[in-house]
Amino acid sequence: MSELRTVTLGMLGCGTVGQNVLHLLQRREAIFADLGVRLEVAGVLVRDLTRPRDVPEGISLTNDPRFLNRCGLVIEVMGGVDRPLELLLPILQSDRPVVTANKALLAERWDVLREHALDGRLYYESAVMAGTPIIGPMSTVLRASGFVGLQAVLNGTCSYILSQMEQGKPYQAALSEAQALGYAEDPPTLDVGGFDTAHKLAVLARFCADGHFPYSAVSVTGIEQVTLEDIAQARAEGQKIRLVATLERQGDTWKARVAPTRLPLDHPICTVGDGRNAMVYEGEECGTLVFAGGGAGGMVTASAIVGDIMDSVLGFPGHVPLH
Ligand code: NAP
Ligand code: HSE
Repeated sequence: MSELRTVTLGMLGCGTVGQNVLHLLQRREAIFADLGVRLEVAGVLVRDLTRPRDVPEGISLTNDPRFLNRCGLVIEVMGGVDRPLELLLPILQSDRPVVTANKALLAERWDVLREHALDGRLYYESAVMAGTPIIGPMSTVLRASGFVGLQAVLNGTCSYILSQMEQGKPYQAALSEAQALGYAEDPPTLDVGGFDTAHKLAVLARFCADGHFPYSAVSVTGIEQVTLEDIAQARAEGQKIRLVATLERQGDTWKARVAPTRLPLDHPICTVGDGRNAMVYEGEECGTLVFAGGGAGGMVTASAIVGDIMDSVLGFPGHVPLH
């Protein structure tokens, strides 16, 4: 067997997603070896070194980011906007690939990240619908078909809360459960206020509508005002309430909206609960497509991140938006 090439990884963050990424990388060692690569984790950046974590043996946790200088590829799973951007820019500017699950960063700092995405250095399949592949198809094969519109449930926390409320659970208890399952953002206002869905919708719009689509163009209403009575009333009329993201043409431009919406019980994006996501995608030639699957949670998200790392070591470019 020929000698393996060593790829030195660095990771920012080691919470719900990061810990699962480390375990999955270890589980898939043989596949990386088949690809001719041996991965070496140079360091993992955290805030609190005393916090108990479930990580494979030998992983070096630190709160000093200097190890990033030695990394050939960086995985970002820390969240936030300013700090990850500050840490990632030198990596991208020195032509090194970045794999990120951070849709807030992608949505809000596209002004500086776009040029790196266009150059194929930025991989972010896990940032929208977590482990359900949607960015891959939208950045490749779906471009052959004229884009008509999409309607989607993109937030696992809201999908979990609303489906639990359908069974009579109070909003606050359902939110606490979603947090315990590792679905929610920190703070969860990002989820229940609709902002996380809006981040994801802006990221998607750049593949199918406009490569410069601004996050600020998404109109956002969250689920905080949805009551058990609203849900019961919808149910009595043969409907469910979901936090729905919509992207559709309006004259010469695109309209992007996130809002609690009533849909028939058998609507494809209505049938998902328990942290799952779904999208109905309309293309002129491909027709109506439905994507559905796990949209939040540590290992589901890790699967897309490790897939991106495999693409990167194989030499496939990252996710390139519309020019
Ligand atoms: P998390 O459990 O809160 O973990 C965040 C990690 O980042 C923690 O280890 C934290 O360190 C570290 N961190 C945060 N700020 C830091 C700073 N300034 N300096 C150093 N370390 C810092 O979050 P998560 O659920 O894993 O999510 C991580 C990212 O993935 C977010 O961008 C999220 O939107 C995205 N994402 C999450 C999911 C999901 O289902 N959870 C799915 C898709 C995408 P400490 O542990 O020391 O506090
Ligand atoms: N907080 C997010 C959600 C994680 O609930 O969908 C996945 O992006």
